[in-house]
Amino acid sequence: MRSSWWRNAAFYQVYVRSFADANGDGIGDLPGITSRLDYLKTLGVDGLWLTPFYPSPQEDHGYDVADYYGVNPEYGTLEDFDRLITQAHRRAIRVLVDLVPNHTSNTHAWFLAALGAPDDPHRGLYYFVQGRDGGPPNNWQSAFGGPAWARLNGSTDWYMHLFAPEQPDLNWWNPDVPAEFRKIVRYWLDRGADGFRIDVAVSLYKRRDLADRPMVPDRVTGAPTAAPGFEILDQPEVHGVYRDWRHITGEYEPERVLVGEIFDPGRQSRYIRPDELHMAFAMLDRRWDAPLWRQRIDVYRRAISRGTSLPSWTQSNHDVVRHVTRLGGDGIGRARAKASAMLLLGLPGQYFIYQGEELGLEQAYVPPERREDPLFTHSHGQQAGRDGCRVPMPWRQHEPNAGFSTSPPWLPMPPGWDRNAADAQARSATSMLSLYRRVLATRRGLARRLPNTMRWARAPQDCLVYHRGPLAVVCNFSRRHVDVERPGRLLVGSAPGVVQGEAGLHLPPNSAAWLETRRSAGS
Ligand code: GLC
Ligand code: CA
Repeated sequence: MRSSWWRNAAFYQVYVRSFADANGDGIGDLPGITSRLDYLKTLGVDGLWLTPFYPSPQEDHGYDVADYYGVNPEYGTLEDFDRLITQAHRRAIRVLVDLVPNHTSNTHAWFLAALGAPDDPHRGLYYFVQGRDGGPPNNWQSAFGGPAWARLNGSTDWYMHLFAPEQPDLNWWNPDVPAEFRKIVRYWLDRGADGFRIDVAVSLYKRRDLADRPMVPDRVTGAPTAAPGFEILDQPEVHGVYRDWRHITGEYEPERVLVGEIFDPGRQSRYIRPDELHMAFAMLDRRWDAPLWRQRIDVYRRAISRGTSLPSWTQSNHDVVRHVTRLGGDGIGRARAKASAMLLLGLPGQYFIYQGEELGLEQAYVPPERREDPLFTHSHGQQAGRDGCRVPMPWRQHEPNAGFSTSPPWLPMPPGWDRNAADAQARSATSMLSLYRRVLATRRGLARRLPNTMRWARAPQDCLVYHRGPLAVVCNFSRRHVDVERPGRLLVGSAPGVVQGEAGLHLPPNSAAWLETRRSAGS
């Protein structure tokens, strides 16, 4: 396995709109990110993934792209992007851009032209299809609720949108679409981007016949549900696109990378290949339970065990409930989140931090009238939506808007949001932030001695123990205090109560430890 900058790297996902606001309009921006690079450097990350900052009407907060070659004025300018890249590289931090190839905004020039006339050739770049019996062309559903089709005013034609109606799906079967994206890929790489996170990476080509998805009765409830095994997405042609892009990334030095938005381990094994994607997200979203976590970790390890790639451990992102909350919230959620981070950061592979995770942020309550997520609006309130994990970063305690901005932020901060501010946590040795810094620094110090393999070891009940070269990681999932006999030297404990005593290593409930052992192990 050739050593590459991205392998075993710690990445940090910046949700651009909510990270830092430099010009005081309540909206995060690119200069805000640049102003916080030293914070990210001190945290110890190797790379950033920036969520979409392109010109966009923000119907899905940037995942509706109006122009793939620019920067939304809300977020800055192309010069701001160049400055961000230069300053990040100066600190040895790489930058990944979010690429959205499945759909454009309905304000993209192509779509506007397509709307111009029924015979406009731009219609071939999307899925414009005649309706059926006064309804949509087929029974496909949008991820945001309702049919995946919107009807054109005063016409029998519909267009496909697997997400919001403002996000028309591109027709990748039309060769002009892959040709355009090849240009877009090169454009950002030439500007200094170190690679891409690829939005809804498996969806580009839809099955050509646009056949109805067969419905079968659910085995338990009897309600009609989509039949498994009927592939709308994952068409074989999408692999050709990634082979092409991988080839392009290989022309650059240092190596550029492709990270697919793919969570399913089975799919990961088909897409993460030496000539396709480098990475995808190994999402640990299981209930706090040692056997479940071990199993999930193993499933991902096995899914991409070809020796050229490693899992990219992830607990949170801008689409899911923050994991401190998922793990029980409050003190117990934070204790578990400290332990889970140590469990995953010790494993071979990359790790993706979602902004604010290093502060132990919880899912925030956003009052319904302030919610902006199309998932909330298009599901008519049936789904709470994702705003609660997108509330801006608290930077400074006891300051207006927690130091994020001089104006009220675009999403309201709940009362006391500044309790978890970065400046206060930097001063506390036991904070989540201090732990992340310590663990990332320890990981970096050990890096050269850590093999890309690990081996589970015998563990007390409700605990997990593994070895990776000189590193031993112990995680206590239980509600009991546990003593583990360990010949190692304690490097980091997730809580002050993790201590080495007469009886061995002492672990309070929901805690983890890293130890350096003499025995070198791996498998
Ligand atoms: C991805 C993004 C999500 C967005 C969707 C549609 O899943 O992560 O935020 O809504 O794609 O682009
Ligand atoms: Ca701003």
